[in-house]
Amino acid sequence: MTYQKIKVEALGGTIGAEIHGVDLSRTLDNQTFSEIRRAFDENIVIFFRDQNITPEQHLAFGAKFGDFDIHPFAAGLPEHPEILPVIREADDNVRGFGNGWHSDVTFYERPPLGSILYALESPAHGGDTMFANMYQAYDALSDGLKETLDGMTAIHSAGDTYGAKSDGAGRPARNKSMNIRYGDDAEAEMEHPVIRTIPETGRKALFVNRTYTKNFKGWTREESRPLLEYLWNHAIKPEFTCRFRWRRGSIAFWDNRCTLHNAIADYNGQRREMHRVTIIGERPYMARGDNAPGVAAA
Ligand code: SIN
Repeated sequence: MTYQKIKVEALGGTIGAEIHGVDLSRTLDNQTFSEIRRAFDENIVIFFRDQNITPEQHLAFGAKFGDFDIHPFAAGLPEHPEILPVIREADDNVRGFGNGWHSDVTFYERPPLGSILYALESPAHGGDTMFANMYQAYDALSDGLKETLDGMTAIHSAGDTYGAKSDGAGRPARNKSMNIRYGDDAEAEMEHPVIRTIPETGRKALFVNRTYTKNFKGWTREESRPLLEYLWNHAIKPEFTCRFRWRRGSIAFWDNRCTLHNAIADYNGQRREMHRVTIIGERPYMARGDNAPGVAAA
């Protein structure tokens, strides 16, 4: 089906597209919104350029996709707690928030549908974000490994990143530019299927990430590690990825359920400032057969 109101220009071979012809500071008509939603489902991360939006306009666009999450460990804007400022000051030469391949807050019972990240200030060079396609990662597994993973559950936790005892060695969150809280509550664990079904497409996606997935249910961390390492490395093969170069006014909106992303920390001495709005998703499930719950629940 073609698009009437927007122009969609593919970025990577299997993931990512730039959307042209949209001004997100204006109220979207129904057809434009439904074409953006279709472009999002088809490309799993979409990008807009040269936008000039207020926090209220950012929230108004996000609200069309669902309710907002408030990050439990990183403070939002005082006047809009649903907007998370993602900042790295020029003299804060740590890895930076979002560095390392992950999907956002998968330690929740209902991890996000997606995040909408708006660039207020971007480095003159560096500071790109990479995205990886978890449908593609699943499809490329052998039938044997798919069968093994299909019934498996993984344990997710924020403990390594935000736990009170985390030493912060190289953790993305140890970043003096942001207001990050560390606490024992980060050790809470959440179970999710290793393979999940995305309701809108009915497709299966690999759902493990290096930042928050600790182990497989019923397996120790040590036992889980070799297979998790294999999956983490497999998931970010170059052919599953795209890379986005930021400019002031750029926006990336990723489907957090079927992508990983990685904010590349290669801009020491330069400042980067983004605003992130995160939309709550459904509880992950893996559909079995055509009548499985949720398959038609888009
Ligand atoms: C994030 O992981 O939400 C941050 C991504 C980025 O800053 O590019």
